[in-house]
Amino acid sequence: MKINFRIENIDPLGQGVDKSDGSITFIKKTLPGETGDALVFSEKKGVRFAKLSDIATPSPERIAAECEHYSSCNGCDYQHTTYEKELEYKKAALARHLFKFGTPVINTHGAKRRFSYRNRIQLHYDKKKRLLGMMDEKNNILPVPKCKIIDPSVAFELRRIYENNTWLNLVKNQPPQGHIEIYAKDQDKPGHNVQISVNKPYADGGFTQVNFEMNEVLRNWIQKKAVEVIPPKAVVYDLFGGNGNISRKFMNTTLVVDKYRKIPDALNHQKFFSIDLYEKNAVKALINLGKEGHPRPNWLVIDPPRSGLKNLEEFLTEFKPDGFIYIACEPTSFARDTVGALNNYELETAELFDLFPSTKGFETVGIFTRRK
Ligand SMILES: C[S@@+](CC[C@H](N)C(=O)[O-])C[C@H]1O[C@@H](n2cnc3c(N)ncnc32)[C@H](O)[C@@H]1O
Repeated sequence: MKINFRIENIDPLGQGVDKSDGSITFIKKTLPGETGDALVFSEKKGVRFAKLSDIATPSPERIAAECEHYSSCNGCDYQHTTYEKELEYKKAALARHLFKFGTPVINTHGAKRRFSYRNRIQLHYDKKKRLLGMMDEKNNILPVPKCKIIDPSVAFELRRIYENNTWLNLVKNQPPQGHIEIYAKDQDKPGHNVQISVNKPYADGGFTQVNFEMNEVLRNWIQKKAVEVIPPKAVVYDLFGGNGNISRKFMNTTLVVDKYRKIPDALNHQKFFSIDLYEKNAVKALINLGKEGHPRPNWLVIDPPRSGLKNLEEFLTEFKPDGFIYIACEPTSFARDTVGALNNYELETAELFDLFPSTKGFETVGIFTRRK
């Protein structure tokens, strides 16, 4: 069904919101004030989702996207406007998520590079249709050989496997449909290698942030703040710590806890433990570390996957830390998990780190200190 739209505002997922005919329609890649036509591709409980087909009145904020796949690809959301505007929309989205936090000041840390940063890309394939690419809203596969946001070394491999459909060799003994992931390992080292995995879980070689440069900015900022707020003798538990990325530069004794224990080069202040933090006995398992002679924490760093840590309260009730740093790639989880802590903790600062330029994603960091 074709509709005429007039965009009122941008929602926290970067979609334009149209209410011109009484129902709500979300249309990606539009901007406030724009009018035009869109095709509805799904409708649930009176809420419609439509794909932009034509713009009658473009916004003065609109620019031509740099990537030739942009109009059809679901990977990016903001290339149709400037990076400054993208950051403004992201900040507004975070502010809306934090409305229960007493409108804190949000500091935005934008990226130097809007393109050529992602160290991994996951693509779907269909052998019968001889298609490899990103999935659209109707589960069609869109080839993206010229994706602009990936690291040049990943882009080189991507072009190579598209050439003459070379990727078909990679999936010769694989199911008819599946996925291929290309990722650059050790981006910080010269001559870093690029690996390809087929039908393995996302980030199979161990979680690493996708934006090496901005990860540096993020952890340097956290490290600087940690020096200010965490006393040198305090013990830190870095929960969902992965390879210890966030607390790597801390001065404090740190217990890094993750389900998947991948120990990088040994660092004196970090000890690594494997615990499933989503298990109902997770807090008990952490208490047991104390019974094994490890110190209890005075501060927590919590950097969970997208789904967050719904029972954060349990961890805070048990350990009563002097403060905690919550890092979230999903602002909804950030708000849901930490709002309950406001009775005992103050949100000192809320920061937006743009680790995912051109897309709707960003990282939220909150530093919470115990009220006196
Ligand atoms: C957003 S990443 C953060 C990793 C790390 N802090 C970093 O900056 O690289 C989330 C981490 O949660 C871990 N994880 C996922 N499920 C888990 C679980 N059930 N229990 C503990 N850790 C888990 C993943 O292995 C991953 O390292």
